[in-house]
Amino acid sequence: SAGFTGQVALDGPSGTGKSSVARAVASRLGAAYLDTGAMYRAATVAVLDAGVDPEDAEAVAAVVAAARIEVGTAADTELVEVDGVDVAVRIRGAEVTRAVSAVSAVPSVRRRLVDQQRALVSAADAVVVEGRDIGTVVLPDATLKVYLTAAPEARAQRRAAQLGLTTPQEIAELAADLRRRDEYDSSRADSPLRPAEDAVVVDSTHLDREGVVDRVVELALSTVGAG
Ligand code: DC
Repeated sequence: SAGFTGQVALDGPSGTGKSSVARAVASRLGAAYLDTGAMYRAATVAVLDAGVDPEDAEAVAAVVAAARIEVGTAADTELVEVDGVDVAVRIRGAEVTRAVSAVSAVPSVRRRLVDQQRALVSAADAVVVEGRDIGTVVLPDATLKVYLTAAPEARAQRRAAQLGLTTPQEIAELAADLRRRDEYDSSRADSPLRPAEDAVVVDSTHLDREGVVDRVVELALSTVGAG
């Protein structure tokens, strides 16, 4: 068949619609799906539940080393567990979102989760992997690397719609929070957020979700039989 096999690395900042694009692309390609952000968020749940300060790198490293973090790889379901407890809803909450940048900046946390990500990916013939450092660090030999961007204002509008926020002040606060997180994620010493040299940059500012999904699927299928 002319089906896609291999790995699609989908990186970029938050608020670009990356998660819903990644899931839809995985469904269209009949591929597995891995949300690496969910793994950093699950690690953050473990840190918060241990009563540890997310900025205390040593304590964070110890908690995460001892936690059992499990994520599913099916495009149509979301399974996220910490030590056998379902945290799929909790990882999307404000408390986790505030603390996750600090947790994900700890090198030993990244090493551990990257190892786990590579093991999960190696079990799949076809997989879409979503994150910040997939094309640069986790899968430097990915079949296709896409870096999804959008203007901060467009990203803030999207987040606002998801959260049901409507006032200009709420949207301005979201834009400020996005800029703060981008700055943090792009300036950390270990695996800063940036496009891989061989990534295709897709700007979603003026594209709807279907337009972005079509583009990424087309890019993935163009690799079939090419390599
Ligand atoms: O994509 P997200 O919002 O669920 O990501 C949550 C946090 O985890 C975000 O602060 C960036 C970080 N992250 C990371 O450092 N590396 C990844 N591969 C994925 C997410």
